[in-house]
Amino acid sequence: MLDKKITELLNQQVNKEFYSAYLYLDFSNFCYEQGLDGFGNWYKVQAQEERDHAMLFIQYLQNNGEKVVLELIEKPAVVPENTKTVLSEGLKHEHYVTSLIHNIYDAAHSVKDFRTMQFLDWFVKEQGEEETNAENLVKKYELFGEDSRSLYLLDGELGARVYSAPSLVL
Ligand code: FEO
Repeated sequence: MLDKKITELLNQQVNKEFYSAYLYLDFSNFCYEQGLDGFGNWYKVQAQEERDHAMLFIQYLQNNGEKVVLELIEKPAVVPENTKTVLSEGLKHEHYVTSLIHNIYDAAHSVKDFRTMQFLDWFVKEQGEEETNAENLVKKYELFGEDSRSLYLLDGELGARVYSAPSLVL
């Protein structure tokens, strides 16, 4: 059994991860509509990863004998206007998710819940990688997004991203 507050935060995170998947799926759909299939693919894979994150939080709760409570998933709060804002909003969202993970880590630390801290270690690292990926996308778009030939090549590069299951096994 876990601390009540920790269980609550972990359940909230299940919802946040599903929301992230929903948000990125919306970004993906927008990019496909723009004819940027590579960007669409990149966000579709990202949405799959976010769903995996939600499933890992569910599995962790279940492994600890806790009840999983699924709540309503909000409609994506960002209305994509153009590719540039999609990328910057994606980066902003990853910063937000990092703050959520750190908040749970902090709460686990305060009640000496070392097991949850160890579980979250993977997410702390994962968030670091996701922030870097999102930052790189913003930078690349700033450099090449305005030039149609370069954008075509960048779109092709992003189209090569393939989904792979998370490295964390519970
Ligand atoms: Fe699962 Fe990038 O948050």
